Amino acid sequence: MNTLSQIVPGMIHVINGPNLNMLGKREPDIYGALTLDQINADLNARADALGLVLDFFQSNHEGAILDYIHAAFEQGPAGVIINPGALTHTSVALRDALSMLSCPIAEVHLSNIHKREPFRHTSMIAGIATGQITGFGHYGYRMALDYLHSLSC
Ligand code: DQA
Repeated sequence: MNTLSQIVPGMIHVINGPNLNMLGKREPDIYGALTLDQINADLNARADALGLVLDFFQSNHEGAILDYIHAAFEQGPAGVIINPGALTHTSVALRDALSMLSCPIAEVHLSNIHKREPFRHTSMIAGIATGQITGFGHYGYRMALDYLHSLSC
């Protein structure tokens, strides 16, 4: 986990941004009780059953996420599932990095960002993502995976 060297062509990259390493402890009334490890394990089991290969990356550092996306770009990813956390609302750099990719990009949020504070209603990512899944808790990641799987059938 969290190394660039294990990226190979044709993977689906599951990227989580700042503070998402604190899931389970962080505002569970908003983000749920599951830890990121539990969410990722569930997703990995599902991917195994579907014959898909996932790579997981989480960072609290914008630049580290950009470096990871650049490494994925070089290998030719099959898809990206990304919960950018608060970078959703602020990061032109993240949008630009994701714009380089020609694969489908699923933007996922645990909470419904459109029901929350006005500053969360704007996503820098939505305009370049294939689609946005927001408000379905950890099921959103599964929905994104099922969508990406539907494209490979
Ligand atoms: C989030 C929503 C963002 O507004 C927030 O900054 C997060 C998590 C979500 O999953 O609901 O860190 O992306």
